[in-house]
Amino acid sequence: MEQFEQQQAQTLAQVAAAADLDTLEAIRVAALGKQGWVSALLKSLGGMSPEARTSEGPRIQAAREAVSGALAARKAALESAALEAKLANETVDLSLPAPRLPRGSVHPVSQVMDELAEIFADMGFAVATGPEIEDDWHNFTALNMPETHPARAMHDTFYFPDKDAAGRAMLLRTHTSPVQIRSMLAEGAPLRIIAPGRVYRSDSDATHTPMFHQIEGLVIDKGIHIGHLKWTLETFLKAFFERDDIVLRLRPSYFPFTEPSIEVDVGYTLVNGKRVIGGGGDVAGGGWMEVLGSGMVNRKVIAFGGLDPDEWQGFAFGTGVDRLAMLKYGMDDLRAFFDGDARWLEHYGFGALDVPTLSGGVGARA
Ligand code: DAH
Repeated sequence: MEQFEQQQAQTLAQVAAAADLDTLEAIRVAALGKQGWVSALLKSLGGMSPEARTSEGPRIQAAREAVSGALAARKAALESAALEAKLANETVDLSLPAPRLPRGSVHPVSQVMDELAEIFADMGFAVATGPEIEDDWHNFTALNMPETHPARAMHDTFYFPDKDAAGRAMLLRTHTSPVQIRSMLAEGAPLRIIAPGRVYRSDSDATHTPMFHQIEGLVIDKGIHIGHLKWTLETFLKAFFERDDIVLRLRPSYFPFTEPSIEVDVGYTLVNGKRVIGGGGDVAGGGWMEVLGSGMVNRKVIAFGGLDPDEWQGFAFGTGVDRLAMLKYGMDDLRAFFDGDARWLEHYGFGALDVPTLSGGVGARA
């Protein structure tokens, strides 16, 4: 028994001297582990006489508790020392200014496209898309511009050097109108779609960039006439510019894919020398600005879309999204749209949560 008290004293001294958790664990195993000396003593109780057990039992239990208590206390001390050391290393300077949240803004073109989708969705239009790398059949031929058509030359088209597998010339689409053909072929009729997206022309100055954005509209149904077109455009422009005093002037024009073709002007008023959409038109101090191309879909285009032009009629329209953004939000140089200048984006961009809704206002600024 003297020996076991000696062993206990030795173990407690080792525990006190242990400098790290691994050493401490080795000490624990040597004392309390299966082969440990405390476990051996506990096992020896079974072979003792009842009297011996009564006197030795509590002593052995006390030794076990002393050792395990010392181990736990030393463990806690070592752990808190390790934590202290870690905290001392990883200082946080609370006097530093809070970091700026990662910020970005929604580009006015994206915002205006969302506004347009919202306005037209309310009139039952779905959003359709088509490829920016197009073939000349969808971009021209099926829109009633055969190979010899002079309108092809007006588009300043970017062509690819190679033809596709079907032998069609490949190009960057010059307008969103090919989505009319793709939608008719894919969906059939009746049809009510808008198609916003990028288009490309070899052209560059203050109001032209080689890449810009258009939105196309197409309605195919039975008994469609110019009245439907006019109402749709008027309703759209009123919602977009958020004014009830929008006046339209429809002028006869020419596009190969519509017959008759109509150019749509919107009235403006001069406010501090700047043209503001709304009112105006033929009244004094007002004027007209061209905003849209449109017309009744040409019978040939309906047929190229795989539909019977005796059964189905429709109207179509197309306009520049960038230009709509400029008119609504007051930018005057188109090139700045695509410079990626953070100051411009900060000024003209929209907050991520400024989602246009008809109820909240499609033009609400952040
Ligand atoms: N695609 C024409 C362009 O790029 C715009 C256009 C005019 C589209 C009349 C139409 C339309 O759908 O009916 O200039």
